[in-house]
Amino acid sequence: MLQSAVDIDIRKNPSGRLQQVDFDNLTFGEVFSDHMLTIDYRDKTWKRPVIEPYGPLPLSPATKFLHYGQGVFEGLKAFRYAGGKINIFRLDEHYRRMKRSCERMIIPLPDEELFLETIKVLVDLDRDWVPEDKFKSLYIRPFIFGTDESLGMRESQNYKYIVITSPVGNYYKEGIKPVKLTTMPEFVRATPGGAGEAKVPGNYASSLYPGARAFEQGYTQVLWLDAIERRYVEEVGTSNIFFVIEDKLVTPDLSGSILPGITRKSILELAERWSMPVEERKVAIDELFDLHKQGKLTEVFGSGTAAVVSPVGVIHHEGQKIELGQDKMGPIAQKFYDAITGIHHGEIKDEAGWCHLV
Ligand code: COI
Repeated sequence: MLQSAVDIDIRKNPSGRLQQVDFDNLTFGEVFSDHMLTIDYRDKTWKRPVIEPYGPLPLSPATKFLHYGQGVFEGLKAFRYAGGKINIFRLDEHYRRMKRSCERMIIPLPDEELFLETIKVLVDLDRDWVPEDKFKSLYIRPFIFGTDESLGMRESQNYKYIVITSPVGNYYKEGIKPVKLTTMPEFVRATPGGAGEAKVPGNYASSLYPGARAFEQGYTQVLWLDAIERRYVEEVGTSNIFFVIEDKLVTPDLSGSILPGITRKSILELAERWSMPVEERKVAIDELFDLHKQGKLTEVFGSGTAAVVSPVGVIHHEGQKIELGQDKMGPIAQKFYDAITGIHHGEIKDEAGWCHLV
């Protein structure tokens, strides 16, 4: 087992469930590995981390998070290299983003060493749960929430930080086939000054209703527009968005209401390495329709930890459609997909120190 500088109370699961898992038919986030990690925050200090069998939590019905949603989560992945090593992708970047989210929600977070080390030990303990298959991974979900038994509307004094892991395949049922998006100009995901750039449950909860309406109309996800002018593209339900416009890679700039995706950052860093022209700027929905008519918008794709790189085939907006005529990934999306999944699985050299091996 991995030796760690952090003192962890490890209580192994005596009845592992690995043999019951059908790794050929994984639905995203529905199967959980044998162990989970918990660290409690009380009296302004983080207590000893515990790794124990995955299972239900005893919670008071007055737990503050259940009422006011003071919580934050992350999503990252571990991949298996051919030789058996496990790569936790951009673990440190995920820590940095979780820290920023916690600051916005006035939540304490374990320090970086505690975060990194405990996740490595947890993943190592359940390393047989990391799928062999190239297009699968172990999704890691750290989350933290206020546990005060109180309905008082102020920040919690006590917190639980938990990490669970789940073997996953493709996020969308379409696999890596193009998805269909629609704008929903009557709804917004996040407002300037709100918590749109933090990874907080409320952002996802409030997107469920518009998401369900989009689904009824035959679309996979909502393409969110900005809250003020309802004109500038922000992101997709579970990912950031990229456009290929006359061989330039264009993506909405991080305006404060957009989630700063780690896959988005990886794509931008790869584009820079490849000297590909990039623009991070406001992208108006009407501009996209004009560019498409002129034949200048050639590819659209989403990026996210869960979604990786997912091509977009259709964008619907107020009765009009951009049909990209793609029945598979376009060449630029494919180039990023191959590079990122190659680095994930150790087939392409990790030049930038993105891989944390256990
Ligand atoms: C991720 O990509 O990790 C996310 O957190 C999206 C989630 C809603 C599945």
